[in-house]
Amino acid sequence: MSDHKNRPKYDWRNYPPEEIPSSTEPPKQLTNSIRRGESILDIGCGVGRSTLALASIGHRISGIDINPLAIARAKTQASEAKVDVSFTTADATHLHNIESAAFDAVLMQAFLTTLATPEERTTAISESFRVLKLGGKLFMVEFLQNWNSSNYRDRYIRGIKLNLADGTFPVFSE
Ligand SMILES: C[S@@+](CC[C@H](N)C(=O)[O-])C[C@H]1O[C@@H](n2cnc3c(N)ncnc32)[C@H](O)[C@@H]1O
Repeated sequence: MSDHKNRPKYDWRNYPPEEIPSSTEPPKQLTNSIRRGESILDIGCGVGRSTLALASIGHRISGIDINPLAIARAKTQASEAKVDVSFTTADATHLHNIESAAFDAVLMQAFLTTLATPEERTTAISESFRVLKLGGKLFMVEFLQNWNSSNYRDRYIRGIKLNLADGTFPVFSE
């Protein structure tokens, strides 16, 4: 296992929002199993593409992301589309402003992969359990890239050279 202690700090906080990789649609598993009116928290919502799509078909949904510019863009889009949805800047590993057992469902879409260490991923998952109601559902969707993907192979190699966890790569460097 890699030693993460002295790894460089790469951060999504100031990643240009227009370049944040976005999912094209919310997962069918969620839309098929969550009833209208149930509350959903979209963690690492980016510019809110899936969040807005879910809100526009009647779901009660909030989105959080660590990137304030992405959240500002998501809010603008919600207001232009006159869609009722709340967007907040927050770190998924410290959801202190969200009370426990507040949501029927949590969505993490193309999100866990962006956390650079196993510790951060574990904390984000425990936080999502904390904010879920008893019997609530956690939907995790990843984009299944691997060493065989020509797009990702070089990125993973860079991550290893930078002492990041396996399967993790920097998204932004100064
Ligand atoms: C690949 S994007 C996916 C965005 C969206 N979920 C989608 O599927 O279109 C990952 C998002 O996670 C956010 N993110 C990364 N680390 C985070 C953290 N600790 N807390 C909250 N959001 C975070 C990034 O800012 C980015 O917007």
